[in-house]
Amino acid sequence: MAQKKMGKKLPPMALPVCLIGANVKGRANFCTIAWFTVIDDDPATFGVVMAKKRCTKDGIEENGTFSLSLPGNGMAAAADYCGIKSGYDVDKSEVFDLFYGSLGSAPLIKGCPVTVECKLVNIIEFAGVDMVVGEVAETYVDDSIMEKGKASLERFDPLLYGMGGGPYYHLGEKGEKAFAVGKKFKK
Ligand SMILES: Cc1cc2nc3c(=O)[nH]c(=O)nc-3n(C[C@H](O)[C@H](O)[C@H](O)COP(=O)(O)O)c2cc1C
Repeated sequence: MAQKKMGKKLPPMALPVCLIGANVKGRANFCTIAWFTVIDDDPATFGVVMAKKRCTKDGIEENGTFSLSLPGNGMAAAADYCGIKSGYDVDKSEVFDLFYGSLGSAPLIKGCPVTVECKLVNIIEFAGVDMVVGEVAETYVDDSIMEKGKASLERFDPLLYGMGGGPYYHLGEKGEKAFAVGKKFKK
């Protein structure tokens, strides 16, 4: 099978989508982000890649806090809206029902399968983008995705984004068992 060269480009990937929330001059604002990653699990830390100019980033710098929410597939329209409209132009404070946790200034999304309160650790500057690094202060999982005391990925049905302009995807069937199927590997 031949391997086609695609140039110096990012490869095709399905990425989970998150909504980053911050208060901007006292008003909650959200933006949609596909370029984010877990950095550590103890302390639980995320890295969020943002363009240099994002209204939400202004709020993160203003308060030193932000939220990272993981929408389900059913929230695609609201998540997409937050990714095509900027808080510089529209008021996105009423897109979601909100609550606040112990940090007091990170707007969390009621009814979202997962919504996480984060404290800003630092902002790493790259040439064209910045990485906002945040430590988790609290993770809230919605009752609707809980099953037998555990969060269920099937109930969660996380919203995924197909790199390079979409569309959105969602989870299919369960695959092989992680940390186990490799034991049977033979070339
Ligand atoms: C599916 C999707 C993924 C996106 N991923 C990112 C991203 O990873 N980083 C980024 O800076 N902007 C990303 N955006 C664009 C921002 O969400 C968009 O510019 C938004 O309007 C910024 O809002 P704000 O100015 O109110 O913060 C994405 C948009 C969509 C629809």
